[in-house]
Amino acid sequence: MLPQEIIRKKRDGETLSRSELEGFFQGYMDGTVADYQVSALLMAAYYAPMTIEETLAVTDIFIRSGSRVDYSAVQGVKVDKHSTGGVGDKTSLLLVPIVAAAGVRVPMISGRGLAHTGGTLDKLESIPGFDVNLTPSAMTRQLGDIGMVMAGQTQDLVPLDRRIYALRDVTATVEILPFIAASIMSKKVAGGADALVLDIKTGRGAFMRERAQAEELALLLAQVGRHFDLPTVGIITDQNEPLGRAIGNWLEVVEVVDCLQGRETPDLMDVTYALAGLMIHVGRKAQSVREGIAIARDVVRKGMAYERFVQLVRAQGGDASVIEDTLAYRNADAIVEVAADRAGVIQSVDARRLGLVAGEIGAGLRQVTDGVDPTAGIVLAAKRGDRVEEDDVLCRLYSSTVQDLPAWRESVREAFVIGDGEIPRGGKIFSYFDSDTIVEWSGDAPAS
Ligand code: URA
Repeated sequence: MLPQEIIRKKRDGETLSRSELEGFFQGYMDGTVADYQVSALLMAAYYAPMTIEETLAVTDIFIRSGSRVDYSAVQGVKVDKHSTGGVGDKTSLLLVPIVAAAGVRVPMISGRGLAHTGGTLDKLESIPGFDVNLTPSAMTRQLGDIGMVMAGQTQDLVPLDRRIYALRDVTATVEILPFIAASIMSKKVAGGADALVLDIKTGRGAFMRERAQAEELALLLAQVGRHFDLPTVGIITDQNEPLGRAIGNWLEVVEVVDCLQGRETPDLMDVTYALAGLMIHVGRKAQSVREGIAIARDVVRKGMAYERFVQLVRAQGGDASVIEDTLAYRNADAIVEVAADRAGVIQSVDARRLGLVAGEIGAGLRQVTDGVDPTAGIVLAAKRGDRVEEDDVLCRLYSSTVQDLPAWRESVREAFVIGDGEIPRGGKIFSYFDSDTIVEWSGDAPAS
């Protein structure tokens, strides 16, 4: 069928068959279907919902566009984790050493920062020498040797998604749930893990601002996972305020080291322990998620997770001396304090605004040709629910690249809403889900 006929069919709300989708995307790979035709199909799919069958077909076509990582030579259950992206979300850097210390193998494929959200690869690369560009054979070797590996998507892993993602990014078609599901799950299926744990973020700093939309995506991802024999479970978590205290690449690594050494940021570690508990449970090293959480707390308390983090850094060529002494890292050239303009209780902290500012002062890419400033970012001194006096420090801005850092003060101050009422802190974890169910988070998965 001609590409324009396929676009017309979707535009008119009809369902596309697997062979129609296959022909269309094969044509895109071969060069007989143009970027503008794929863009038109994407916009049609934005308005005309796709069925689960269409979503599964697109996911399969994505997976088959490249090669799959094969970890069958490595013993044990391999568990990956994915977050839909947030501000201050450094849980991956914590989870890999914690879950590996609990005896589960963790092959983690990560991404770069997107829009106002940070990227795990940028955080890892702030550690001098840390190499995230590993070949599949190097990943397999490291996973066998030390039980954990953190790397970027290789050229050959789902190349069709890479091209289509770039188109979605510039045609305002990122927010199509079936394409988000196909994009995430194709990379996870091709990435070779045996099970997947998801952190679906919702709120002001997340891509899914509404909880109902986050829940819809969660179930869709888990259903796609089940179809491709990748058991998928997860939690839905709050991204209204940044997670933890640090936003920005090296600053987040420092917070990770602090947490692994026992100086824990409570909200960050609550989410981390829940995800770790899920990973340890699906990795068959705990009878329940609750037991998995207890194991995770134990490996942090005993210093085993910290030791595993140092081991990971060394294994991937990183300079472990800056992990062992984070003060040895080079300071940001400028540090600016942002103070409260009144006394009161912090009612909210706008994660999106702070994520955007952190990017502007160097923690993110402003242009694809720019580098990231590893020293740049924001560290919160106050969080939602904290009481502050006038002139107390709310946060500090760090940058080695922006000339006029104080100019950002006002915009950052506006991210903090200070009022008079006490604010119940509340948990950051809303729900647990798998492919059949979503239930309120109770600290465990429901008995099946
Ligand atoms: N992350 C992905 O990998 N793909 C999407 O479409 C959205 C988030």
